[in-house]
Amino acid sequence: MLLGSAGAAATLGLPVLGASRDSQQIDTHIELHAEPAQVQLRSGAATRVWRFRGELLRGEPGALEASAGGYLGPIIRARRGQRLRIDLVNSLPESTIVHWHGLHVPDTMDGHPRFAIGPGERYRYEFIVDNRAGSYWFHPHPHGRTGKQVYAGLAGLFLISDNEEAALGLPAGTRDLPLVIQDRNFDADNQFIYLGGADREPARRGGMGMGGMMGGRMMGGGMGSMMAGMMGVLGEQIMVNGSMPALREVDRRAYRLRLLNASNTRTLKLGWSDQTPLRVIATGGGLLAAPLRRDYVMLPPGDRIELWVDFADWAPGSEPTLRSLAFDGGIDMGRMMGGASSLADGAAFDVQRFRVGAETAHADKLPARLSTVAAPQPRQAVNFGSPKVFDITMGMMVWGINGASFDMLGASALETVKLGTQELWEFRNDGRGAMMGMVMPHSMHVHGLQFQVVSRSVSRRHAGDYATVEHGLVDEGWHDTVLVMPGERVRILLRFEDYTGLFLYHCHMLEHEDTGLMRNYRVVA
Ligand code: C2O
Ligand code: CU
Repeated sequence: MLLGSAGAAATLGLPVLGASRDSQQIDTHIELHAEPAQVQLRSGAATRVWRFRGELLRGEPGALEASAGGYLGPIIRARRGQRLRIDLVNSLPESTIVHWHGLHVPDTMDGHPRFAIGPGERYRYEFIVDNRAGSYWFHPHPHGRTGKQVYAGLAGLFLISDNEEAALGLPAGTRDLPLVIQDRNFDADNQFIYLGGADREPARRGGMGMGGMMGGRMMGGGMGSMMAGMMGVLGEQIMVNGSMPALREVDRRAYRLRLLNASNTRTLKLGWSDQTPLRVIATGGGLLAAPLRRDYVMLPPGDRIELWVDFADWAPGSEPTLRSLAFDGGIDMGRMMGGASSLADGAAFDVQRFRVGAETAHADKLPARLSTVAAPQPRQAVNFGSPKVFDITMGMMVWGINGASFDMLGASALETVKLGTQELWEFRNDGRGAMMGMVMPHSMHVHGLQFQVVSRSVSRRHAGDYATVEHGLVDEGWHDTVLVMPGERVRILLRFEDYTGLFLYHCHMLEHEDTGLMRNYRVVA
């Protein structure tokens, strides 16, 4: 299927930016191949992965930065207002489609699973970058196989800049450092294990009963694999930028760390090993109004957060380590299955160790103001008095929202919204129909827009677990993804602008998404 020619884009109502501008002009043209590859990740055998490879056909050289050695895709860099054309070429043995996570684009450009293309096919994307400066990303979105394809290696960053951000003089070049965090399981032959790897070592997967080792090295196997396929895949090996984590030398200067949690299911609670407070400068939807100080930050799957880190705060030669800290209320496969994961959700682990250089500290200054973020005005929502409720539900071994799982072309009356209006939505994680009473965190993501978080509340029963994460929730600023902890209700304010059509909202824990925790919403004129 070929969509999104300039003509079609015009009829889809792409915003026209300045009358004098040739609306057909393409600033950046990228050919993006999704293809099998082999990468040397560990000593021994190379790892077979699927990965994105980009070719810049037109545009500034900085518009596409090849991945630095691991399996991750290239970094796409764009300025707000630029017109992009991206041709996806599917060289995988199965169908796929790419979603630009966090971007405000027409529904035909958003990578909905209904647009998935088969092996050997191409899909043309064309859109104007219309997001705030920030860290976005792209990944596959075919229905039922997003988890598998992301796990195989398909993901890349999409970084947007604008004039406002440029004027701040934030750390740039090598001091603008993206860290894409993921978890994986490797088999003895250095190959990724996803849900037991249906095509590998079938004999070894037999005979594992309810007590099988879930989420660990031997996650494979009938019941265990089926459970992980619903509850989520947790890896014991942390990967950074598609590679094994390695010590990173830094100068005694300020850095901008762009953190993306591209794990399938694992939630991160990020903090410094020596408890140095964090300075948060951006969320998933770009810069905050002003930097915030936090002892730690929660980063659920799919979400991004940016830190301003001044390594002059540490003595020369010291080795501060960014860690994921322990928290309660994570996915508890052990409790479900009577087995033990080798690295449980909510367990502590190192993410990235730095070594601070020996030079004299350079006095970099964190700007006191970063951007303008209007306070949310929930009273402007058309349903201010009665927020729409989206209950995360579990039926007969199927996830759902309000009891309904994914329906490719369907959206209910509740899921129909009017263009140009704002609505209040409430995600409820009360554990309706939860198996064995187990409630787990979810990472709710809405396509096509950025929303604001209006309020949260948590049930008394889960208050204890919640206390281990709540000070790390950054609700300020703009978001496309929000962590909803067990027993929690989160209210968000959404504005449906510019584009009508069918968009997704779902849990970004990819095994949840693939097994029903995804629905459409429809924007009507
Ligand atoms: Cu990043 Cu629908 O997902
Ligand atoms: Cu979920």
